[in-house]
Amino acid sequence: MRLLVTGGAGFIGSNFVRHVQRERPDWEIVVYDLLTYAGDRRNVEGLDRVSLVVGDICDEQALEGAVAECDAVVHFAAESHNDNSLHSPFPFVHTNVVGTYHVLEAVRRHGRRLHHISTDEVYGDLALDDPARFTPQTPYNPSSPYSSTKAGSDLLVRAWARSFGVQATISNCSNNYGPYQHVEKFIPRQITEVLSGRRPKLYGRGENVRDWIHTEDHSSGVLAILERGRIGETYLIGADGECSNRRVVELLLRLMGRAADDYELVDDRPGHDLRYAIDASKLRDELGWRPRYADFERGLADTVAWYRANRAWWEPQKAATEARYEVLGR
Ligand code: NAD
Ligand code: TYD
Repeated sequence: MRLLVTGGAGFIGSNFVRHVQRERPDWEIVVYDLLTYAGDRRNVEGLDRVSLVVGDICDEQALEGAVAECDAVVHFAAESHNDNSLHSPFPFVHTNVVGTYHVLEAVRRHGRRLHHISTDEVYGDLALDDPARFTPQTPYNPSSPYSSTKAGSDLLVRAWARSFGVQATISNCSNNYGPYQHVEKFIPRQITEVLSGRRPKLYGRGENVRDWIHTEDHSSGVLAILERGRIGETYLIGADGECSNRRVVELLLRLMGRAADDYELVDDRPGHDLRYAIDASKLRDELGWRPRYADFERGLADTVAWYRANRAWWEPQKAATEARYEVLGR
């Protein structure tokens, strides 16, 4: 198997590459990544049987060449941060929608298997007291430029599967955490604020709920779907990890030896989704998938340890990221 991984130098993509490299020692992996501000070649450097092609998924010719030489494609490449999408939506439309169109056309021309990576945010949000969780039947109702362009990309994949017989599957996963996540995202931002001698920053009143999953568990779900998923199907990936943002910050502060209320409340994000929650029973029942990081607190402690030990990885991005937040007032 020669696997092409778009966006494989980013957070989840590079964790997936390392997962596959460990779990499938006879596979060859080609990472295809533009190395935007969110991609880092160090994330996949020095790995056996892994090579990096620096390229844009919107560059039809370059992508075509890479797809032609592979057996299957896992498509992670995207603009991925909600706050950036509220400030500057065009790159999201371009990469997430137009880029996915090019991925689809390339796999169609070459008859390749495709697994498309998406997010639970395409379903919109839930009330805090709603007993419901997202299922593959939940209607799409995205709120932000990020989630609407991911929703658009999913719909393109569904249409290409039905109209052109593209051998595609889709997964919609909940919020990931773990090593190599960019410091703009919630958990690494707070850890690195504390490691920089500042206070965590909670949007609004910190009541919003996210359904956290360790990125290793996302990777094992994607590999199961790639190998054993039914073509044309959508699978939701989640590990029953609902937690309010305030509680996450309190846990982090405690793990890092600070008072649990040593955080700041800052301006809320416009249109801020209240709650996400995933029902992953289709993935569990059909493919026998189980998360391994059942203990969120332990997973957070490992993540704190990783950021403590890898300052040289995140410090170069930190000042520019905080300067962007300064402009947004958050
Ligand atoms: P990330 O921003 O860390 O990584 C994205 C990667 O894509 C980067 O390496 C970047 O260089 C690359 N990229 C961006 N534009 C490109 C282009 N035009 N051509 C080629 N490469 C390009 O994002 P992430 O958090 O690792 O998310 C990866 C995927 O998983 C995305 O599709 C995202 O929507 C999805 N997802 C993320 C989460 C989450 O919690 N972060 C949850 C569910 C799904
Ligand atoms: P984020 O990591 O941006 O993921 P998403 O918007 O895709 O869920 O944010 C996770 C949650 O944390 C979200 O409710 C926004 C909130 N948040 C903060 O409270 N403070 C912060 O500094 C950041 C970056 C996010």
